[in-house]
Amino acid sequence: MERKPLIAGNWKMYKTLAEAREFAKEFAAGPNEWPDVDVVICPPYTALAALQEALEGSAVMLGAQDMFHEKQGAYTGEISAGMLKELSCRFVIIGHSERREHIRETDESISLKVHAALSQGLTPILCVGENLKQREQGKALGFVRGQVEKALVDLSSTEMGGVVIAYEPIWAIGTGKTATSEEAGKMCQAIRTTVAGMAGGVAQEMRILYGGSVNKGNIAELMRESHIDGALVGGASLKAAEFREIIQQAR
Ligand code: 13P
Repeated sequence: MERKPLIAGNWKMYKTLAEAREFAKEFAAGPNEWPDVDVVICPPYTALAALQEALEGSAVMLGAQDMFHEKQGAYTGEISAGMLKELSCRFVIIGHSERREHIRETDESISLKVHAALSQGLTPILCVGENLKQREQGKALGFVRGQVEKALVDLSSTEMGGVVIAYEPIWAIGTGKTATSEEAGKMCQAIRTTVAGMAGGVAQEMRILYGGSVNKGNIAELMRESHIDGALVGGASLKAAEFREIIQQAR
């Protein structure tokens, strides 16, 4: 099964509007630069409109870092899928471990968001991953499987096929410690098996990414794993030259 690689940059809470514009200028992606890789940038909300303009006609797609599940209403501070689509977003990160930790997002709210994103035509990049303690206790696999099952509950098989899952072990995020490509590949395979148990054959079409200290030096090896279809890149996506290099290496 051929799955098109996906390289997504998660800028987190970095870059002002001016810095985002600067990045786009330096990154300067042409329309057909990477026909064999999907490239997505997920900036802070405040930079979406500027990047929409700066990246128009380029090979780069836009994503957001979160969304709320309701279409509209009295939800102070929240952003809807429709608002993101208006800014040309095609993707939205959901359930990042930093939101699970600092914003206390739960499996239930994450599931609502995944449903809402899909029903409104956005591709969710669902993040899952264990912490160090869970890994050391041998509980990583069961924990991640549970996260996947809870987030995808009640979706049809077709809907599940439209979700991207990013396996991001918490102990590897921003620490410089990457999971070995073998460890990461094994977990991505286990995630695919979990989805197959829920949805059958579409699990083979689903793209599963690895995230956690991905850089230009380790991406090629990670991509050699048959169940890793791309990467969700944090720190290394903030520098135009390095992000470009990661995309090149992933091809
Ligand atoms: P780093 O690449 O900075 O480790 O971050 C990974 C991540 O959390 C991407 O969502």
